[in-house]
Amino acid sequence: MHHERINRLARICGARRYLEVGVFHGHTFFNVDVDFKVAVDPTFQFDPAAHQNDRTRFHPVGSDDFFRSARYEPFDLIYLDGLHTFEQTLRDFLNSLAFAHDRTVWLFDDTVPNDNFSALPDQERCYRLRRELGNGDWAWMGDVFKVVYFIRSMMKFYHFRTFGGHGQTVVWRDPKQYDERAATPLAGIGEMPYEDFVETYVATMNFAEDEQIYATLERYAAGA
Ligand SMILES: C[S@@+](CC[C@H](N)C(=O)[O-])C[C@H]1O[C@@H](n2cnc3c(N)ncnc32)[C@H](O)[C@@H]1O
Repeated sequence: MHHERINRLARICGARRYLEVGVFHGHTFFNVDVDFKVAVDPTFQFDPAAHQNDRTRFHPVGSDDFFRSARYEPFDLIYLDGLHTFEQTLRDFLNSLAFAHDRTVWLFDDTVPNDNFSALPDQERCYRLRRELGNGDWAWMGDVFKVVYFIRSMMKFYHFRTFGGHGQTVVWRDPKQYDERAATPLAGIGEMPYEDFVETYVATMNFAEDEQIYATLERYAAGA
């Protein structure tokens, strides 16, 4: 369950302030054990007013509107699980930098699409094409994976590891380490077809076992 992973990350980085973009029914959000939590979703699948209190805030707007008008102290842990397109998720990440501090940790959902349909940025098109082929798979990750390529190529002081499955990528900043690995040209990232992802993702995504990722973050949190 996603909340178990997020609670583990929260404990490791001593998180006291949590932001979740894309909340849906709140299955993750309500189970995250952090002192102060902020939820953003244009269409919450519950009545946010029934849950609002001093420690829990709800913003029933899209992420762009939220970041435009939000007034919050920096968050320690940010979960980006809103609209699963490259452009929106990248903008959410870059906007969230204004609500982050030096040790903020991010988690991105669905960074590993399972086929070419799931990697399309248009969710309806993904489902329509599958229906036409009699394919009953409902997985849709969109092209969030390109954000990982962007970070790797353009944000050399930001580091990441990816949990397996549909892929969740944890990101943190370390100005003491510059990522020397080869960059993907910016134009190539935006236009990257699924086939190129298949050929490059193992070498790109920094997959690791869950416990290895937690150990890496523990060393980071300890200042190592
Ligand atoms: C995959 S669901 C989130 C699931 C939730 N994080 C969880 O773990 O249970 C994606 C959510 O993103 C929301 N969403 C879509 N566009 C958004 C946007 N621009 N800003 C914020 N949320 C958005 C949708 O309304 C939907 O509820």
